[in-house]
Amino acid sequence: MQEPENLRKAFADLYGIQGNVPVLFFAPGRVNLIGEHTDYSGGFVLPCAIQYGTYLLIRKTDDNLIKLASVNNPEKTFIPVTDHFSKQAVRWFNYPLGVFEQFVEKSIPVGGMELLFYGDIPANAGLSSSASIEVVTAFALNHILNGGLALLDLVKMSQKAEHIFAGVNCGIMDQFAVGMGKANHAIFLNCNNLEYKHVPITLSGYKLIIANTNKPRSLADSKYNERVAECQLAVAFLAERFSINKLGDLGYPQFFKAQDVIPDEVIRKRARHVISENQRVLASVASLLKNDLAQFGALMNASHDSLRDNYEVTGFELDTLVEEACKIPGVLGSRMTGAGFGGCTVSLVRDDVIPAFIEKVGTEYKTKTGLTADFYVAEIGDGVRLV
Ligand code: GLA
Repeated sequence: MQEPENLRKAFADLYGIQGNVPVLFFAPGRVNLIGEHTDYSGGFVLPCAIQYGTYLLIRKTDDNLIKLASVNNPEKTFIPVTDHFSKQAVRWFNYPLGVFEQFVEKSIPVGGMELLFYGDIPANAGLSSSASIEVVTAFALNHILNGGLALLDLVKMSQKAEHIFAGVNCGIMDQFAVGMGKANHAIFLNCNNLEYKHVPITLSGYKLIIANTNKPRSLADSKYNERVAECQLAVAFLAERFSINKLGDLGYPQFFKAQDVIPDEVIRKRARHVISENQRVLASVASLLKNDLAQFGALMNASHDSLRDNYEVTGFELDTLVEEACKIPGVLGSRMTGAGFGGCTVSLVRDDVIPAFIEKVGTEYKTKTGLTADFYVAEIGDGVRLV
């Protein structure tokens, strides 16, 4: 699909040419460079918006129906405007509808509308296709309803939509990155107070390569919520010794000395990951600012090790991609990115070895797992916008 011309044509075919001129919006997906499974513990993250994302064409109508359709999915629906939207059986409807519900909760009346989505983010790959749909919907509604909401409000509303309508108790990283992304910069975000800085990413002679495991991720949501609960349990134990509300409130030296207050080894490992990952984000920002890519790559590798051994969210497919990547001279670092349990890795690869990287990692991965990986060169783009 060559967006946006084809999207306009598809919109006209679907909804007709009478009425208001539809308005086009775009929200990117994201890749997280480091700081994984720290956001819901009030930790640090370092994601970037990418070139892939979700387009939304939208226009107001006067028939009091919200019409949802997507080029990527066969299902379409007409939902009457109401003062309370409810969850739908078709999963993807819940991302935009959860956002509609947030507008209703803020007493911003929504009227009849026609929406057509098109996304080029690989689905279910941990590159935030759902956050991209939520944020583009929130941004578009705010625009066409003159909602007057700040971008940060839209980001928070999108996160709530994910909690309530998609049932995933996610942190704020994805929606924040999709909203606040900036070309050629990562977002260094403190998820405790939402203070953030854009960190320039100048990877002279290197690229970020995303590799998709293409592993089906049926249990990912429930395992994700399980990790959120495990972190809350870790906090409950540690709060006997420290005055903390979240794992991100604790530094590694304090935790290291006191970790035995957590009686359960599994819960202790979860806390060890979050608290050590926070240190790695800080060290990564320092490395990137001095353009020390070797140091940053080593931190990526350490992050993956901790996600595999302490947080246990990787699995054979992600581990295989990372192991094979690290065997190739010219690869400075490799790690899983996103929630894990499948999804993608991100690797820092020297320009001249990219073809060999794709060939060798792809072949070994296929031999070992029977699955075919997809590879993408990540370009760091801007956040949500009117096109
Ligand atoms: C998912 C969630 C994010 C974050 C990552 C893991 O992408 O939506 O909030 O927790 O997993 O870092």
